[in-house]
Amino acid sequence: MKTVIYYFSATGNSLYVAKFLQAAQEDTELRSIPEELFHHRFDVTADCVGFVFPLHSMGLPMLVESFMERLMLTGRPYIFAIATCGAPYIGQPFADAETILAAKGQHLSASWYVRLVSNYLPLGDIPAEWRINLRARFAERKLKKIAAAVKARAPHSTWQLLRSLCRRIHEKWKEWRQKLDEKFSCNTELCTACGLCERICPTQNIVRPDGHPVWQHRCVNCLGCLHICPVKAIDYGEKSKGRRRYRHKDIAVQELLHNMNEEADCQ
Ligand SMILES: Cc1cc2nc3c(=O)[nH]c(=O)nc-3n(C[C@H](O)[C@H](O)[C@H](O)COP(=O)(O)O)c2cc1C
Ligand code: SF4
Ligand code: SF4
Repeated sequence: MKTVIYYFSATGNSLYVAKFLQAAQEDTELRSIPEELFHHRFDVTADCVGFVFPLHSMGLPMLVESFMERLMLTGRPYIFAIATCGAPYIGQPFADAETILAAKGQHLSASWYVRLVSNYLPLGDIPAEWRINLRARFAERKLKKIAAAVKARAPHSTWQLLRSLCRRIHEKWKEWRQKLDEKFSCNTELCTACGLCERICPTQNIVRPDGHPVWQHRCVNCLGCLHICPVKAIDYGEKSKGRRRYRHKDIAVQELLHNMNEEADCQ
């Protein structure tokens, strides 16, 4: 009765959710979507397959979409998807996931939003600690119900409001892909050349010729580099300036880093 959960996470919310579900079920394996993509691992044989990811621009993160498109599923597993987010219900991530799966003769059996903290700094600061903790408590309550539903292989659907408007905005956001990282800057006086920004990047979009990050226009806008910098040397335009950085309190920095950059360096 094997379960495989594919996850993508820049600041730990989605990894926290994936780990919660792993702990709630026996024989559950977590697989990182950026690493599966990097290593071209697209086969899965399991009774239950899950996808846990952040809501990005009201839809699927670009990497999650392209991974789902390539994934080859054996048989007819129970498939669920969870979008972590700051503001649930607005968007169409699960409708898009269903379309991708339907093209493979599969079906999205269950979907949920889990509200945690929005890490999209250009739209607003990270909430106060008490608010983060309150959301964490509600999320945990919801996750217990989700874990029970997944264990029972129960179907579940959720609201996806303003779909056509959200789809238009989402498509525009994807069209800007090559420009998404033009807003990043690094304050080289603060930067200690620690390399964390390079190691968290899921698309190997950061190089550091002089120790400091330079963005290569293959960004998927996850904001991992912005949030992980321990000295706040990275900004995204003017709006991130002075705002707090975020990582889920139960997730360590090391858990968010990818090992593919080092492997790529060795090749
Ligand atoms: C580019 C981008 C777009 C986002 N768009 C939305 C959104 O449309 N709605 C929302 O509620 N949260 C949005 N968020 C916030 C994330 O979905 C939320 O913080 C998520 O839980 C982060 O998960 P992670 O910590 O696993 O990366 C966005 C974040 C980013 C980086
Ligand atoms: S994470 Fe910050 S300090 Fe470390 S290399 Fe990147 S910009 Fe510099
Ligand atoms: S450059 Fe930063 S925001 Fe873009 S994909 Fe890499 S870590 Fe994410």
